[in-house]
Amino acid sequence: MVNDAEMLEHACADAWPPQVERALGGWRLRAAGGFTGRANSALAIGDPDGPVRRALESVCEFAHAHGIEPMVQAILGGPVEDVLASSGWVPHDDHPAGNEVSVLLGPLGRAEEHAPTRVLGTPTPGWWELTVGTTEPTDAQRHVLTGRPPAGFGVAEDGGSTTGAVRGVLVGDVLHVARLAVRPELRRGGLATALMGAIGGWAAGLGATRCALQVSVRNSGALALYERLGFREHHRYRYWVPAAP
Ligand SMILES: CC(C)(COP(=O)(O)OP(=O)(O)OC[C@H]1O[C@@H](n2cnc3c(N)ncnc32)[C@H](O)[C@@H]1OP(=O)(O)O)[C@@H](O)C(=O)NCCC(=O)NCCS
Repeated sequence: MVNDAEMLEHACADAWPPQVERALGGWRLRAAGGFTGRANSALAIGDPDGPVRRALESVCEFAHAHGIEPMVQAILGGPVEDVLASSGWVPHDDHPAGNEVSVLLGPLGRAEEHAPTRVLGTPTPGWWELTVGTTEPTDAQRHVLTGRPPAGFGVAEDGGSTTGAVRGVLVGDVLHVARLAVRPELRRGGLATALMGAIGGWAAGLGATRCALQVSVRNSGALALYERLGFREHHRYRYWVPAAP
């Protein structure tokens, strides 16, 4: 059962499979061609099998060996943050979606019979277009988003066109939801709510009992949606990078 921030972080990390992962004690060093911070950072939880400062050197070596920038994902206010700050690392202010992320827990949505949604076992071209901006994803994008079964790919459709999309991955009894997106001109019409219901219904059928999400604290629209759906913040994490090259 997920009952604390560290366990929930590991469950969320399981939902973002990197192409390469190496354990450093309890830490997880991850690389996937730079696609997503979650699959291209070191999850710094637990004991890294030695001093944190030495572990940070290993993070840099691993990142350089895999062609990505060194980055650490650390629980906000957790013990690693003090060492990061005193080791010359800083919160990653240039991270595209913002460096601070809220991890939410909430109930499973319920499928509505008449909602124009379905959950598929593999993504459609329209799903890819809406969630990553291309119908021809890279190997890294494909791996990170489809490499962890069981996964469900929810789509809302109108005629031949995809109007909304979402991904759900089951990790134990937790449904991890990501990549929720609705076409800009169709927002505030209930499509995201319907997609959350569809993916929740899919996951309930597989034994899920609750839902987890990771949302940038800057994404006020998504946070308002999730609050309305009954989600509450469990904890936050931050991305850190070395201050100087
Ligand atoms: C966030 C997003 C998925 C919401 O999709 P949507 O179809 O517009 O959401 P819904 O219509 O189901 O919204 C239901 C309720 O959530 C709240 N809500 C949704 N979007 C909101 C916004 N931008 N601002 C404030 N409240 C919002 C409202 O209470 C809304 O009900 P109302 O329209 O009757 O007031 C959509 O804005 C989007 O695709 N954003 C870009 C991608 C993104 O940020 N995804 C989330 C990643 S975690």
